[in-house]
Amino acid sequence: MHEQVRDYQVTQEPYYRAVGDEVDLYEAAYAVRMPMMLKGPTGCGKTRFVEYMAWKLGKPLITVACNEDMTASDLVGRYLLDANGTRWQDGPLTLAARHGAICYLDEVVEARQDTVVVIHPLTDNRRVLPLEKKGELVEAHEDFQLVISYNPGYQSLMKDLKQSTKQRFGALDFAYPEADVEKEIVSHETGVSADVAGKLVGVAERARNLKGHGLDEGISTRMLVHAGSLIARDVAPLAACRMALVRPLTDDPDMRDALDAAVTTFF
Ligand SMILES: Nc1ncnc2c1ncn2[C@@H]1O[C@H](COP(=O)(O)OP(=O)(O)OP(=O)(O)O)[C@@H](O)[C@H]1O
Ligand SMILES: [Mg+2]
Repeated sequence: MHEQVRDYQVTQEPYYRAVGDEVDLYEAAYAVRMPMMLKGPTGCGKTRFVEYMAWKLGKPLITVACNEDMTASDLVGRYLLDANGTRWQDGPLTLAARHGAICYLDEVVEARQDTVVVIHPLTDNRRVLPLEKKGELVEAHEDFQLVISYNPGYQSLMKDLKQSTKQRFGALDFAYPEADVEKEIVSHETGVSADVAGKLVGVAERARNLKGHGLDEGISTRMLVHAGSLIARDVAPLAACRMALVRPLTDDPDMRDALDAAVTTFF
């Protein structure tokens, strides 16, 4: 492996509990170098899944958190000034394409469309990346793959991806795992007993039913892991759930009361 991407190697197996056939499907997608899009609500395991797949496939993983101020140069690279004049520095996308890493663009809808289009020539059969400022055409390494993720539903229409972008990808839908699986995840991640993990999942199920009825989003697996970690450190369950589950989710006093009540029915 090229030294420039060696630091991005995932050396330890990340804990990932498969919820369906996503591991096999992703492996098949990687085998044909299909660019992949992971869709699902916040905190449901998308990032963990990519880390796991990068480890399983033995490929370095370069992650970029996208935002609306991001420019094409932030992805592709730029000339930097140093004592000896100017020097080209590859951006994360170029680094991944050149040396054969998996490039993961997190929350890609946040990026402006003129930024997102730089991935187009890399995600069709050309598999090239033109570095216009440098006058170089990078041919993607055979191990290179692009993965993007986003939370459908949060963004306005303005922020949706263009069809010409979407249609370059295969997609996997992620959702909060079903109760038994989520219980296992929370218990494994935090060390709380199966009993406590089950109660946390119960609270989450109640809250998820309130989505669209006063809550924009339900309690994520991530939040349950937070709550479980506090309980594992001997924080009282009620206080842990308030801090990690209820307070971050909503400012609405009635909704907080309803969620607090749900917590007390379990703990
Ligand atoms: N299937 C799973 N196996 C193992 N851990 C999981 C799984 N799903 C969720 N988790 C736990 O939930 C946490 C949040 O997951 P992750 O960071 O992957 O969410 P995400 O979908 O990338 O969210 P966001 O869209 O906000 O980035 C993880 O750190 C992990 O503890
Ligand atoms: Mg993520």
